[in-house]
Amino acid sequence: MLRKITLLAALLTAFAWAQKDLPEGDGKQTTVRVCTSCHGAEMFSATRLGKTEWDAKIANMTTERGAAITDADYATVLKYLSTYMSPAPPK
Ligand code: HEC
Repeated sequence: MLRKITLLAALLTAFAWAQKDLPEGDGKQTTVRVCTSCHGAEMFSATRLGKTEWDAKIANMTTERGAAITDADYATVLKYLSTYMSPAPPK
């Protein structure tokens, strides 16, 4: 019984950790879909940039790395990143 509880706790911790990878916020789902097809979210989950820098970063993924992002997705992702992954994100 104790073993089962320990296992369950470990699984829940791992799950919570994966969820915490990127901050919650509008546009998170889109960002995960658009930005994790080539590399994992850990590639940018610790990055904190201003809007101009994120714009340049996403543009770099499209021009240099071959990411195909629709205009609508681009706007959503840029808004998400520059809002929740800025140097001073909302609390
Ligand atoms: C078409 C594939 C592709 C997509 C889609 C993609 N990337 Fe990348 N990304 C790459 C490659 C290739 C690298 C370089 C990997 C390495 O250095 O190991 C990279 C590296 C990065 C890096 C670290 C290196 C750097 O240039 O700063 C960041 C940050 C990053 N990507 C963010 C993003 C974000 C944000 C998105 C969504 C808008 C995204 N990526 C979508 C291919 C992609």
